[in-house]
Amino acid sequence: MESMTFVLFGATGDLAKRKIFPALYNLYLEGKLPSTFSVIGLGRRELSHETFQSNVERSIMEFSRRQATPSPELTSFLSAFRYHPLDVTRPEDYRTLLQLVQERESELGIPDNRMFYLSVAPDLFDLIASNIKASGLGSTRGWKRLVIEKPFGHDLASARELNEKLSKSFEEDEVYRIDHYLGKTMVQNLETFVLANPVIQAVWNKEHIANIQITASETVGVEERAGYYDQSGAIRDMIQNHMLQMLMMTAMHQPTQISAATIRAQKKQIMENLRPVPRAEVAKNVVRGQYAAGSIQGKAVPAYLDEPGIEAASRNDTFVAARLWIDDEKWKGVPFYIRTGKRLAAKSTRIVVEFKNPTEHLYAHRNEQTSPNLLVIEINPNEKISFLLNGKNVLNEGVLDEVRMDSQGDKKQLPEAYERLIYDALQGDSTFFAHWNEVELSWQWVQPILDAFAANEVPLHTYEAGSNGPEASERLLKEEGFEWLLDP
Ligand code: BG6
Repeated sequence: MESMTFVLFGATGDLAKRKIFPALYNLYLEGKLPSTFSVIGLGRRELSHETFQSNVERSIMEFSRRQATPSPELTSFLSAFRYHPLDVTRPEDYRTLLQLVQERESELGIPDNRMFYLSVAPDLFDLIASNIKASGLGSTRGWKRLVIEKPFGHDLASARELNEKLSKSFEEDEVYRIDHYLGKTMVQNLETFVLANPVIQAVWNKEHIANIQITASETVGVEERAGYYDQSGAIRDMIQNHMLQMLMMTAMHQPTQISAATIRAQKKQIMENLRPVPRAEVAKNVVRGQYAAGSIQGKAVPAYLDEPGIEAASRNDTFVAARLWIDDEKWKGVPFYIRTGKRLAAKSTRIVVEFKNPTEHLYAHRNEQTSPNLLVIEINPNEKISFLLNGKNVLNEGVLDEVRMDSQGDKKQLPEAYERLIYDALQGDSTFFAHWNEVELSWQWVQPILDAFAANEVPLHTYEAGSNGPEASERLLKEEGFEWLLDP
């Protein structure tokens, strides 16, 4: 891997502390960082290099998945870190930053490959990007890359505006948009599991699949993010990005060869064929909910409206379920159901594929029925794939019984999403980052829903904290004769 400088905006923030420093450290231990590299942390406050290095050390001690103890390796890792105070609005601060970056590049004898990681509020993305350009920081003979994390805009228009601005300073192939769901082991594994297995490919279509259900349920509430969440809701926070990314990864067609470009092209095609939901039809196809008081694992929790910082009359969505159709030859007539919510019964992210069941009446003469085959891909907190098939219970007069075949859960300590994604970005592999096309098409699909929610054209169902969400989300599936499967 080529030597480079990792320029981290927001180096004194929470994400840096919990995720980015530990990820860099674990990559370092695995020999997945270049042999020589430089990290420059940026923040508003004044800090000495030494204080910054001890802050980084502390965050690694606390948050690294591998237990860290003082060691020569850790010392040498930390010696790559420098700090530079920077007010993102002041052009002269970028010029002094450039001096420091160049000083370090020549000290270490490394080329001017620069990765700009923006771990800051999204409304600063375009300002920082344009200052990177204006200061000369972005004029490199080597490569330059920009890493940003959602939200990319607040709706279709603002996302387009942001992209337009960013594209003045960085080319599309230099922008790495993190969607941390694309860093999850099982989401990445979908690529191989679905596309590279002829047995799965043979049944991965409307002939064999009855419906697909994608769930991301959480037990946490709004936490300390009232200001952000009350303006976003589940629709912007989860559906526009993570849920639609999982849908694309599940439904994409097999390309002739696997590469970042072909995967992205396939994902884009899914979004292009995703049937739009006109505003007038949102209420029929989308269910929105908000949690009421209840209890989670035996502990009483307040209603959303009673959470600190939430507007008393907020009509924000903390739960969204939707029915989607992909109008292409592979998926015509197969409903995809997605749902996500806070304060639900369990933390669980999973994809359930229900197969059609032409053998249902094979045992009718014995008054027995086969069950539809199911494929369950558990993404979080478990990481495993299970097949549910019909079998015979020889211990009980041969009656039909469910046979469950589970992939062995990997007990090894797996790298975290941020580790994988930072590694990929350092290598210039953009497969598991959101391309602008995907982001734009996702906003385009979501926009009528935002409009219908804002105009209150969709009922807001309350649901008890600790439940499986509003009853109304069952109705969505009943219309096609299905139900949510394998509720925790
Ligand atoms: C984030 C959302 O993107 O994803 C959070 O902003 C949510 O609201 C989180 O809790 C869920 O991620 P995970 O990895 O815990 O499923």
